[in-house]
Amino acid sequence: MALLDIRLLGARVLRERAAPVTEITEETRRLVRDMFDTMYDAEGIGLAAPQVGIPERILVVDVTEEDESRHAHALVNPVITSFSRDTEKSAEGCLSIPGIEETVSRPARVTVEALSPDGEPVHIEAAGLLARALQHEVDHLDGVLFIDRVSPLKRGILLRKWRKLRADR
Ligand code: NI
Repeated sequence: MALLDIRLLGARVLRERAAPVTEITEETRRLVRDMFDTMYDAEGIGLAAPQVGIPERILVVDVTEEDESRHAHALVNPVITSFSRDTEKSAEGCLSIPGIEETVSRPARVTVEALSPDGEPVHIEAAGLLARALQHEVDHLDGVLFIDRVSPLKRGILLRKWRKLRADR
């Protein structure tokens, strides 16, 4: 088991657009395993490669839904191909911004196309928490954080709280 160093808000890699993976290799699969280890260790439900300093389009999620069904996915080059019109509001946090949570409105359902770490096509129709986690992680691949998806007023409050949390450490 290998734990990777999670980059925090302020790290430039979190604000860059990650590059598509051009060749899936054993190294890709090792990164995915390490990302799962890192995510579980941090008790998160999703992690994107830029969060561990790798600017590539790779993410992992593991969401257990209210009906106790478990959804673990590792996705390479994920693309959200459709968003529902209806939206849902729910609290979100991020392993790169620990201690900060805010309600974020997002499309309630999405369709995602991607490759598995074995290079097989993956098609996911997601709703609920899985849809939210996938949107949050794909945002990371575009340098977008959940605090960008709240009002400027709320974002200002969150950033002040974040700075205070960091200063108090
Ligand atoms: Ni995040």
